[in-house]
Amino acid sequence: MLTINENYLKLQASYLFSDIAKRVASFQAKNPQRNVIKLGIGDVTKALPQACVAAFHKAVDEMAKDATFRGYGPEQGYDFLREAIVVNDFQARGVDISADEIFVSDGAKCDTGNIQELFSTDIKIAIPDPVYPVYLDTNVMAGRTGAFADGRYQGVVYLDSTRENNFVPALPSEDVDLIYLCFPNNPTGSTITKEELKKWVDYARGNKALILFDAAYEAFVRDDSLPRSIYEIEGAKEVAVEFRSFSKNAGFTGTRCAYTVVPKECTAYDSRGNRQTIYPLWNRRHCTKFNGVSYPVQRAAAAVYSEEGKREVRQLTDYYMRNADLVRKEIAALGYDTMGGKNSPYVWIDGKGSSWKFFDMLLDQAGVVCTPGAGFGKCGEGYIRISAFNSYENVEGAMKRIQQVLA
Ligand code: MLT
Repeated sequence: MLTINENYLKLQASYLFSDIAKRVASFQAKNPQRNVIKLGIGDVTKALPQACVAAFHKAVDEMAKDATFRGYGPEQGYDFLREAIVVNDFQARGVDISADEIFVSDGAKCDTGNIQELFSTDIKIAIPDPVYPVYLDTNVMAGRTGAFADGRYQGVVYLDSTRENNFVPALPSEDVDLIYLCFPNNPTGSTITKEELKKWVDYARGNKALILFDAAYEAFVRDDSLPRSIYEIEGAKEVAVEFRSFSKNAGFTGTRCAYTVVPKECTAYDSRGNRQTIYPLWNRRHCTKFNGVSYPVQRAAAAVYSEEGKREVRQLTDYYMRNADLVRKEIAALGYDTMGGKNSPYVWIDGKGSSWKFFDMLLDQAGVVCTPGAGFGKCGEGYIRISAFNSYENVEGAMKRIQQVLA
């Protein structure tokens, strides 16, 4: 008899964004004449940068001729992309990462979800609340938690992010082994200073712990004093793995390309307490389960680092930041407290009541989709998240509709 992995039965309903998509589809089926403006999932709407499109086309043409055709590439990514990444994303900021520490992949979602399988099931994990659901759900699937009770999984150390701590959690009061951090934060839009991030790095160094740092939104940082990579903090290379993505900066949500940085000095321990580097484990996993991102997509991603690509990426992120600015100002003018939207494409709003009720009200009365904060964890209850990823005209339209409903 085939039995299942019963950890899956512990999971709550469906994945948050699938759940929202179903509710929106059902609303649209009942109200076919209503035009719905989607500011829910953080999915970009503007076209790929022209520099990327040109590189993409050129690479497809290479694939069309025997002489330049490419079959399987290196699982970790082509050198041309890995080298462009280290020069532009790290060395330009004074961070010494080498090209072979970069693992190109098809998404930060997959990488942040998959990396937990390198670690034993009895480790203590620390997860912020509210949080991008992938970190928690993949640990539930792996059997690293107990049952769900009173809004939380047993056995997880939750790091509360609240108005009181400015949505930057305090260090855990008990020992933990694996820590998830995301800054600029999804969903709250909060940012972390170098001083605050150093406390986490020092904690990890002192506790033989590892930080999984999701920096998928670093391109939206406008305040130069804020870190864009955890490796800007001294000692972080020994205790942190970083996740980056081309989805939000260059519009690759549908094209798929991201990368993970696994420094060679990053360590964990075996059951006898011997130091083991994580690098060969991740490399082994990557080569066994992944065959690399397609050649044209990697060429398109590398074009992000050309002069034209850099200019276009800046224009794209500025465009979305203008939307975020509008959301923040309009919502604040209606008397609601907001967070984020300054160095982040997400605006986190205190809805002064149930998150899902607020979600339903905006959908039913304004035809606007947001994301209910409660979907990101217990501490998200009462909040909603508005994403800046849409056209300026749609964001403006959504704000007018919301004003009519809330004013
Ligand atoms: C979000 O809306 O939180 C993100 O789009 C999800 C993702 O990037 O997978």
